[in-house]
Amino acid sequence: MSSTNNKTWFDQQPRIELGQSPTPLEPLDRLSEELGGPRIWLKRDDCTGLATGGNKTRKLEYLMADALAQEANCIVTYGAVQSNHARQTAAACAKLGLPCHLLLSERVDWPHDSYAHQGNMLLDRLLGAQIHVSSLDDVTERRKSLLTKLAGQDKRIYEIPAGGSSAVGALGYTRCLAELMVQCRNRNIGTDLIVHASASAGTQAGLVFGKSLLGMPGQILGINVFHPDPQTLKDRILTLAQTMSERWPDAAVGKTFQVDVNHAYFGDGYGLPTRACINAIRMAAQLEGLLFDPVYSGKALAALIDQINLGNFNHLTDVILVHTGGSASLGAYIDAFDE
Ligand SMILES: Cc1ncc(COP(=O)(O)O)c(C=O)c1O
Repeated sequence: MSSTNNKTWFDQQPRIELGQSPTPLEPLDRLSEELGGPRIWLKRDDCTGLATGGNKTRKLEYLMADALAQEANCIVTYGAVQSNHARQTAAACAKLGLPCHLLLSERVDWPHDSYAHQGNMLLDRLLGAQIHVSSLDDVTERRKSLLTKLAGQDKRIYEIPAGGSSAVGALGYTRCLAELMVQCRNRNIGTDLIVHASASAGTQAGLVFGKSLLGMPGQILGINVFHPDPQTLKDRILTLAQTMSERWPDAAVGKTFQVDVNHAYFGDGYGLPTRACINAIRMAAQLEGLLFDPVYSGKALAALIDQINLGNFNHLTDVILVHTGGSASLGAYIDAFDE
């Protein structure tokens, strides 16, 4: 396949436009100056639209097209109580007039009242989703009984995995990388390093698949925010990227992928903010007027700031941070910001 065809290949896959793209690529000059390292560029995927934006919009554009192609009339998806994916799925369903069931598991030990009611939970309700909250232990049983009940009501269910991280969903980030490459080429911005928060593997799988598809030479560095063992995340990214290769052999992408994950900013667990993350969120807010979140994008930002402070990126002129969204959860984490 010629490189021109490669660049437009993902455009030929069924997709419904649900948000805004291309998202802006902005220099963070005050933050870059404060840190004294490379120039930081922010890919504003927090501005994708769909109920405050975030990385799930791009995945849902492909997932919802797939659901409609399968004539589904009911969407079921999964996540933590403060899942951004759940909120964005609820918004996509509202926009398309589809009933949406969210099975949310209590997997985060953040024992504050706001966690169960504010942030994404408030928005899920506003968006009209049917919310089912389950303990982590019961979630498999609850899933079974929910699917059985819906099937009994003659629903044609389209199940979206947690984080929208199927091969179809991950395609959204292949498209994002192509969009970013055009922006960088037009403005002469270096693409040696792209950093982002990584959890259910779909964002990074889509990016690394895109790196092979587009022949992009730079490094894609996922900051692990979800898996206690980072090898699990690496394996999932690799498996998902390989699944994409198998599903779309016409893309002519091989089966080897460069998967880089940094685990140093994980802290005490998924959904538990670190001190460095809270400091990074404050820095971005006060130097750039930007909102990051304490679960995902704030940990990626904390990683970037620390790596620059350590001098590890001194050899670079530019570094790109993908802002994957998440600020909708800030209100749920009000207790993390006590002075
Ligand atoms: C705001 C935000 N950033 C990053 C991620 C990580 O993306 P992925 O699950 O595709 O690894 C998620 C979702 O899990 C998210 O909600």
